[in-house]
Amino acid sequence: MNKGAWALVLIMMLHRDPAVWGEHAEDFDPDRFEPKAVRGRPPHAFKPFGTGARACIGRQFALHEATLVLGLLLRRYDFRADPDYRLRVSERLTLMPSGLALHLARRSPATRAAAPVSG
Ligand code: HEM
Repeated sequence: MNKGAWALVLIMMLHRDPAVWGEHAEDFDPDRFEPKAVRGRPPHAFKPFGTGARACIGRQFALHEATLVLGLLLRRYDFRADPDYRLRVSERLTLMPSGLALHLARRSPATRAAAPVSG
């Protein structure tokens, strides 16, 4: 590339590159974000908040908010999705599952003991 040339990174492609994520790059696999797996990847392979001068300014806020809200909800409720739901991706400002509804059931001491939330 020439100095000063433009490069456009297609983040959706970057996050599905089999050279980085393996042949099952499309699968939902939260274990990809275990610290050991993260350390084994090139540092710029995951860019959910964009990159460079125009990257997301809400990143730290969003990460704190998500951790807080998920922590509060998962402590109190079990989440259940319709087992017949099949993923349809809706593309808006961000990608989101279209038509996915989660049913919340209040956790009791018994269900909490069966599936404790760590941390
Ligand atoms: C999980 C939540 C979020 C995700 C995944 C996300 C993702 C992104 C991405 C991919 C960009 C474009 C970066 C680029 O063009 O390279 C962006 C830009 C931006 N985001 Fe977020 N964002 C999130 C939450 C937030 C929040 C909570 C705020 C504000 C409180 C925010 C404010 C902004 C602003 C103002 C820009 C435009 C920055 C600029 O063009 O200079 N975002 N975000």
